[in-house]
Amino acid sequence: MNGSADLYETDALAAQYCHAHYGPEHFGIPNFPRECALICLELTHGRGRRHALDIGCAVGRSSFELAREFDRVSALDYSGRFIEIAGRLQEEGIFRYSVTAEGEIRSCHRACLKDLGLDAVRGNVAFARADACNLPPRYTGYDLVLAANLIDRLRSPRRFLATIGQRINPQGLLVITSPYTWLEEFTPREEWLGGYRHEGEDVATLDGLTAALAPRFRMLCPPRDIPFVIRETRRKFQHSIAEMTVWERTGP
Ligand SMILES: C[S@@+](CC[C@H](N)C(=O)[O-])C[C@H]1O[C@@H](n2cnc3c(N)ncnc32)[C@H](O)[C@@H]1O
Repeated sequence: MNGSADLYETDALAAQYCHAHYGPEHFGIPNFPRECALICLELTHGRGRRHALDIGCAVGRSSFELAREFDRVSALDYSGRFIEIAGRLQEEGIFRYSVTAEGEIRSCHRACLKDLGLDAVRGNVAFARADACNLPPRYTGYDLVLAANLIDRLRSPRRFLATIGQRINPQGLLVITSPYTWLEEFTPREEWLGGYRHEGEDVATLDGLTAALAPRFRMLCPPRDIPFVIRETRRKFQHSIAEMTVWERTGP
């Protein structure tokens, strides 16, 4: 794992993700991990809902939300720090954290599963540290895989896409969101799925994604935009727009 991936082990990022997952909404934009999970629950209505995988789950909000309807949710992330926080929240029901207000001044907050109506389902989630590009064989048999804002943070998104299909049940769904912010700090340029020019032509990530998934998947519905906000300080926010694509496993 390179230095940029270690970013997800820092205090600053842990607090930022706690607030993004469990803190207040900003500028009227719905909570992103909750929104992703709600869409996944709509998409799987009338389909199998035994086992879901939330890969790159960070501090776990979408994993808990999926557990409202799925019998079991495997929630995996490469960051030991994020998994530890999610595990403590699961065990104790509450996790306290502080975020930057301005300069050295911090404000204190708490994530509380009971307040979010997630207390009764927390036992259905199993958090563990794992590498999406090299998952142990036991992680298989899923009706749904959610990979939210993960692919452009992997060192080998092609390897992830090539191997995730065999872990999904026939007619199971793979839901991917990404703002396609390719950066060499995370992903070597030759691994980018798009966002570059080749022989004078622009290569869009959606085309690269479609090509990588074509052997096993069909696109179930048109791509849609899902905005999200990450608060940096009381007065500074990142506003991004992820594209969500939904893929049904059709091939071997
Ligand atoms: C941009 S964050 C998105 C987190 C969460 N899904 C969300 O939407 O809020 C990317 C996440 O992917 C995780 N990640 C990065 N590389 C990974 C890998 N190789 N395997 C599993 N998780 C990884 C990071 O630790 C981080 O939690």
